[in-house]
Amino acid sequence: MSDRILITDTDPETLSRAVEAEWGRPLPWSRLDSRRFEDASVWLCAGAPPERPIRLAKLRWIHSGWAGVESWFGRPEWAKDVALTRTVGDLPQRMAQYVFGYLLTRVLDVPEAMRQMGERSWRRWVPDSLVGRNLLIVGMGMVGVEVAAVARAFQMHVSGVRRGSRGADGRVLDARGAEDLPALLAWAHVVVNLLPLTPETDSFWDARRFALMRPGAVFFNVARGATVDEKALLRGLDRGRPGMAVLDVFRDEPLPPEHPLRGRDDVWITPHVAGVSTVPAIARDFAENWRRFTAGEPLRYLVDRARGY
Ligand code: GLV
Repeated sequence: MSDRILITDTDPETLSRAVEAEWGRPLPWSRLDSRRFEDASVWLCAGAPPERPIRLAKLRWIHSGWAGVESWFGRPEWAKDVALTRTVGDLPQRMAQYVFGYLLTRVLDVPEAMRQMGERSWRRWVPDSLVGRNLLIVGMGMVGVEVAAVARAFQMHVSGVRRGSRGADGRVLDARGAEDLPALLAWAHVVVNLLPLTPETDSFWDARRFALMRPGAVFFNVARGATVDEKALLRGLDRGRPGMAVLDVFRDEPLPPEHPLRGRDDVWITPHVAGVSTVPAIARDFAENWRRFTAGEPLRYLVDRARGY
C-alpha cells in the first residue's frame, strides 16, 4: 500500500485507533511531525485545519471532520484534482434532536416546571402543542430530511426550501424553490436555518426576511452564524419577528459575554453543540470512504466546489 494518510487532530491517537477499529487493520498514518509527511496522498483533518497551509504535492483526497467546509475554500491544499469529503455521521439525528429538544422546552414551558420544582409549588398551566403548527426548513438537505421526519411525527405541517431539487446524493428532495420563501416565511410558526455558509448565504437572514416572518415565530440557527445579520435579528426580535431565536452558531465564536444577543429572554444561546462530530462518527465515515478510495469507487459526502458546499 503506497498511500499514506496524514492525520491532524487535537487527539490523533484516539482518532486513528477508532478508524483502525472500524477498518479492522492498521493503517499507514503519518503526522505533521513524521518524517516525510509531505508524501501523504490522503489527509484526515479532524479539527480546524492548521493556520498555515501545508505542502502536500501527492495529495488526492481530504476528509474533513466537520460537516461545514467553508474554511476549505481558498485553501491551497484543496487543489483542482483533490477530492474533499465531509463527515455526516449522526449529525442529521443530532440536529433534529437539538431542534425538537429546545422547541419542546419552549412549547411545554419546561423552565416553568423547573421553577415550580425549585419552589415546591403547584400551579397548573396548559402547555402549548406542536400539532398543526407549520415548520419551515431553509436549506433542505440531509439534515432537513431528518428534521422534517420528526416534525411530521408530531403532526406538524412541513415545508422545505432549497436551491435545485436534488440533494448531494442525487436524491430528489421534497422542497420548494427560493421564490416561494416570502410566502413560506409568513406561513411558518417555526423556521429552521440549515444553510451552508457560502458567498451567497452570507447575511441571508437580513431585515427584509425577518420582517416577512409570522409574528411570534421561533427562529433556529443551527447552521453557520454568518448566514445571519445579527443586528437585523436583534431589531426583528424587538418587533416580534421572530418572537424568539434559538441560536447555536454565531458570526464570532466564542460569543463574547457582552454581546447584545445575550441576556434576553427571547434568545436562547448554546455554544455550537447542535451538530458535533464525534470520534466514532468521523471514524465510521472516514473508514467507509477509505474503503471506497482504495477500491477506486466514488467517495461519499463529496463537497461540490462549484456549489460551494
Ligand atoms: C459543525 O459545525 C460542523 O461543521 O460539523
